[in-house]
Amino acid sequence: MSDDVVPAVINLDVPGPVINRHLYGHFAEHLGRCIYGGFYVGEDSDLPNEGGIRLDVVEALKALNIPNLRWPGGCFADEYHWMDGIGPKRERPSMVNTHWGNVEENNHFGTHEFMALCELLGAEPYISGNVGSGTVKEMSDWVEYLTRDGDSPMVRLRKANGREEPWKIRFWGLGNEAWGCGGHMSAQQYAAEARRFGTYCRDHGGNRLYRIAAGANSGDYAWTETLMKQLGELGCAYRPAPFMQALSFHYYTIPGTWQDKGDATVFDTDDYYRTMVKAAHVDELITGHSNVMDCYDPGKNVGLVLDEWGTWWNVEPGTDPGFLYQQNTLRDALVASLHFDVFHRHADRLVMANIAQTVNVLQAMILTDPDTKALVLTPTYHVFEMNKGHQDAASLRVDLKGALPSREVGGTSLATVSVSASRKDGRVLISLSNLDADQQADVELDLRGGTVTDVRARILTAGSLQAHNTPDAPDTIAPRTHDQVTATASGLRVHLPAHSFVTVEGRLG
Ligand code: AHR
Repeated sequence: MSDDVVPAVINLDVPGPVINRHLYGHFAEHLGRCIYGGFYVGEDSDLPNEGGIRLDVVEALKALNIPNLRWPGGCFADEYHWMDGIGPKRERPSMVNTHWGNVEENNHFGTHEFMALCELLGAEPYISGNVGSGTVKEMSDWVEYLTRDGDSPMVRLRKANGREEPWKIRFWGLGNEAWGCGGHMSAQQYAAEARRFGTYCRDHGGNRLYRIAAGANSGDYAWTETLMKQLGELGCAYRPAPFMQALSFHYYTIPGTWQDKGDATVFDTDDYYRTMVKAAHVDELITGHSNVMDCYDPGKNVGLVLDEWGTWWNVEPGTDPGFLYQQNTLRDALVASLHFDVFHRHADRLVMANIAQTVNVLQAMILTDPDTKALVLTPTYHVFEMNKGHQDAASLRVDLKGALPSREVGGTSLATVSVSASRKDGRVLISLSNLDADQQADVELDLRGGTVTDVRARILTAGSLQAHNTPDAPDTIAPRTHDQVTATASGLRVHLPAHSFVTVEGRLG
């Protein structure tokens, strides 16, 4: 088998935009077994827990340095009424989760439990408020309840529920998917709603909200343009309105159709390449939304947030179709590593991204067994862990030279080698993905403007693309030391086996 050799140049002394740590953000919705059985097992559980929060899940996620957690949805956010989720649990009213399985939601996991979870994780909360079926007063009261100090009706209520001090909350979502499950609105309609809701989400005391308007469905650039026009103050220098600091969009990797998305573990090489083409499309989407935003906001004052991304497969056989439970293979890991390379390249505009979702739903980090309660770390988890050094690091541009190895996939050319890099605290981190199913590759890194010593590398790969972890075989796919990195006259040569993800770290001199 012949090796592709890919020359790449990195100028170590030319730092680019900082990679916001919130690009490694997470998402937990009241959906299937994400909250109940995933994060939260209740205080009476046999599993070690704090206030009902599962501690093995917390420990595993802490190793990722997860920067933020979005909650309570998703579609669920727009039918969630936060007052149902405070006070003594036995008195909390139930509701039907009409979006996800029509199951009864007992509201035992509410505001206080979510804030406790964030504190245990060391993650910033990102609360998605209800625009679709809620009122402006309801959302405004929630902000007051959470963030106001001193004395007020909502402060008294919070204190009566056991929390004296206000919390610090930055990230606040003004609804979710307003074009769909969040109210089936037009962009104009939603912009008007966002102005109203955003206005009454006040900055109490020293707390400063970072309001995120619900944005487009994948490539709906017209939606982004409408929001930029309606939610900013046009003029010589665009100023975002005080009620919006960012706007979002959602994009899922689905190589099939909505009716038949494909199976998580049963797929062939063609399915695999189709998946990679769909994953790579996120680059075009971020570029498109950024271009629209640049027209109105060249100073990049408004942030772009991709607050739902990841693979979406058919549910695992025998599981509730409304619970979106899916396995996770090496293919999912490579979808994640490719997304991160794209995110790093767009660090000037993209300020946050949230994988959907953290536990037991869609492209999860952690799967828990409903019967044995065993916890499994997915291949995607390992990509987040191997890449965590990029959080808040200065991006380093990577110039791949010459013709890149590629595959023709249904009329689209898929570049099969992807690289990104960053520097922080005197160290460099380089992430390299070889997406080719069969062909190995070597990347010849020409490192200019500095030296890299004390090099350590790790690899995530497996014998097959379908490899995944289960309670019986939890480490089928896990990072290993990679010793196929060699020093060259101008830098490093990194060997990438077929379908592999490699990280190389070293000390900058
Ligand atoms: O993540 C699952 C669902 O996907 C979310 O609830 C919704 O926002 C999106 O359509």
